[in-house]
Amino acid sequence: TENLKDVADFPIGNIVSANRLASTSATNQKFKEVLNQEFNSITAENDMKMANIFKGPDDYDFSDGDAIVAYAKENGFRVHGHTLVWHQSIPSWLQNFEGTDEEFSTLVEDYVKATVAHFAEETMTADGQEMTVVASWDVVNEVWDGSSLRNSLFRQRIGDDYAAKLFTWAREADPDVKLFYNDYNIAGEPSKRNAILNMVNNFKTNNVPIDGIGMQMHLNHNWPVDDLSTAIQDVVATGLLVHISELDVKVNYDDQISEFTEDRAQVQEEQYQRAAYNYTQVVPADQQYGITIWGFRDQDSWLYEGGSDWALLYDEDFNTKIAHRGMVAGL
Ligand code: XIL
Repeated sequence: TENLKDVADFPIGNIVSANRLASTSATNQKFKEVLNQEFNSITAENDMKMANIFKGPDDYDFSDGDAIVAYAKENGFRVHGHTLVWHQSIPSWLQNFEGTDEEFSTLVEDYVKATVAHFAEETMTADGQEMTVVASWDVVNEVWDGSSLRNSLFRQRIGDDYAAKLFTWAREADPDVKLFYNDYNIAGEPSKRNAILNMVNNFKTNNVPIDGIGMQMHLNHNWPVDDLSTAIQDVVATGLLVHISELDVKVNYDDQISEFTEDRAQVQEEQYQRAAYNYTQVVPADQQYGITIWGFRDQDSWLYEGGSDWALLYDEDFNTKIAHRGMVAGL
């Protein structure tokens, strides 16, 4: 089978953890082999989220992220930073912080600036050009709950315009790193998509720095992929970079199967193909930031649910499933 990065005209990513990269078990050797063979971009599944870094005021633990950056530098990967702010990754001390809103806001500002500045330090040479290893950040993840602003702690404490503030703070810490807004159901939920695109267009009108939009793209076998091309087109119309940032395809969304069946495997192949194909066809080359897949083996997926879904491209031995053939055909 062909390697994904060899068939694509844009970066192809997957997720890693510092633990996996450090481990020399047979499984993890195999994991690294597949990673290096098929991919040229990496995202930390959890290690670069706030809860893993922000230990207290002015207290940051960048060690896991640093290990990932070191691996990337050695093996020629681009790193996509994920994610500075997310309502599901708040350290408990910050969750329970009893100071004023202004103090809370300053803590988050300091966090964003310190983290972006720290990961701007490592550079590497790719295609004869000097670049930072961490080329981009998801500045904020999942601000929208359908077409309403999610009532997250950040919204409550910093205000309705907190997303704009986060982008501004990130830009102050690094003039060059690409800044992304990331969310799920940007395809498939037109009213949510409109709310997000309105926000992004407001950013542009008001000179809030933003470079790209991440469409998570957690699909399933029933997903109405017919609207994928419209959805991607709408995102392309912003003129920003477009990243499919967390692609996976559940096959047991309806909880109807107890093992991975051939029928569902085929639908999954088609869904992966459609996602890759629509991206390739609809996004102009200069807006293609890449496609990142959210995991390797089915059993490692956040969607595995104790063995009742099979959302990814590799089986337990890292052999490619037919979904991989779908990706290759779509790219
Ligand atoms: C998930 C990880 O895969 C899990 O290991 C973790 O327990 C929770 O987060 N959207 C995102 C990702 O933006 O960060 C999430 O990753 C999956 C959903």
